Amino acid sequence: MKTVLAFDQGTTSSRAIAFDHSGTILGTAQREFTQHYPQSGWVEHDANEIWESQLAVGREVIQQCKLDPREIAAIGITNQRETTLLWDRATGEPIHNAIVWQDRRTAEFCDSLREAGHLEMIAQKTGLLIDAYFCATKLRWLLDNVDGARERAERGELAFGTIDSWLFWKLTGGRVHATDVSNASRTMLFDINTHTWDDELLELLKIPHSVLPEVLPSSHLYGETDPELFGGPIPLGGAAGDQQSALFGQNCTQVGMAKNTYGTGCFMLMNIGEKPWASKCKLLTTVACTAGEHRQYALEGSIFIAGAIVQWLRDGLGIIESSSEIEPLAASVTDSDGVYLVPAFAGLGAPHWDAYARGTIVGLTRGTTRAHIARAALEGIAFQVADVLDAMQQDAGTKIAELRVDGGAAANNLLMQFQADIMQIPVVRPKVLETTALGAAYLAGLASGFWKDLDDIEDVWQTERVFTPSMPPEEAKTRRGRWADALGRARSWEQ
Ligand code: G3P
Repeated sequence: MKTVLAFDQGTTSSRAIAFDHSGTILGTAQREFTQHYPQSGWVEHDANEIWESQLAVGREVIQQCKLDPREIAAIGITNQRETTLLWDRATGEPIHNAIVWQDRRTAEFCDSLREAGHLEMIAQKTGLLIDAYFCATKLRWLLDNVDGARERAERGELAFGTIDSWLFWKLTGGRVHATDVSNASRTMLFDINTHTWDDELLELLKIPHSVLPEVLPSSHLYGETDPELFGGPIPLGGAAGDQQSALFGQNCTQVGMAKNTYGTGCFMLMNIGEKPWASKCKLLTTVACTAGEHRQYALEGSIFIAGAIVQWLRDGLGIIESSSEIEPLAASVTDSDGVYLVPAFAGLGAPHWDAYARGTIVGLTRGTTRAHIARAALEGIAFQVADVLDAMQQDAGTKIAELRVDGGAAANNLLMQFQADIMQIPVVRPKVLETTALGAAYLAGLASGFWKDLDDIEDVWQTERVFTPSMPPEEAKTRRGRWADALGRARSWEQ
């Protein structure tokens, strides 16, 4: 066997990456797909477009690496989490666009659940806070708002899934309707203590049991691809939500090890071991992915907008032409000259959880240039991450020794140095920045025997660069104070 393939289905693009036994990337292909914004605060994806883009990049990478399907040990799936889809079991057609994790349409319904006093019960069972972010209220919205959906669901005609389930379904020609534990733990319908769908939550949210996928381990043989798709069957060796997959890909397998992924949003996860416990600082408790028998959990701080700011500077504001221009532009000034950009375009996630916050720029003067705004945008990412790190350290009751980083924007040296400066801890960047995909490859490779065990994959992870803090602590404190002021102005704007 030459390779394991990772299918990394993210919020803005679908990618396929082939890894060899040493974790070296043999080939990669990527396709962006359309974002739909039908109303303010709503975000949707066309699930067929997701499927077509994922299939296309899968085929492209197989062709690029001149692979015979028999040389591929397995495919591992990793995906944007919480994005919610319902499709018809008979035709395989989605009954509506997928509602994306960033979508805020159920914020008011979430308020009513909180006001009705369900917060504690939901947190205890699911490890989550009540928020429009998770699948449960999005699924209920689909059942209540798409003509005939509830009746069809009750007759057992519809299937619900996050994007991993959708890809399993499509890849197997409708033979597999399953999800893994890490994705299930983001639905707000799954009890993370017992690892089962929870009847009380299903009843509260009025979700019929019949729509749910089977929940399986992250590293597991789920089935085989339809032979027609790639010229022969390929085993499907696992799946994990992209953030849990990155934690695994970063080898954060010991308690207290943490990573932050800079994607569309930013997601910091810290391994908390084999027993779940609740955050006191509004972080989430979530199921981590493992390759063995033991369950593992993580504490998570989810930030909704990070790399998406750069896209907005490019497509919305038009002050850069390509994303790669941001670093030299931001580096052309020594600081943001007092400008702070709070990217609360989709509300604020951890640790603030304010669905009604909106994006804000403060501190503009006649001297402000696009370079200051670019710099403030990058700094806005780092400040959000520092707020989550504080919450995590407070919860853990200990200082986190270092933060491992990955994702597209982790390649930005200016951002990584500012991140270390503002947090006052080292930021460690690995050689393979594609740790999300690598995590999924590990899961599939371990299930299929491509890698023997965890020891076999340990050497794959290597440091590329460590950013150590160089900003005086007093200055970091002053800047964070100004950031907190700016954040206060963005809060509750829509209410
Ligand atoms: O929880 C949402 C997250 O899984 C999305 O990740 O990488 O697509 O921004 P990403």
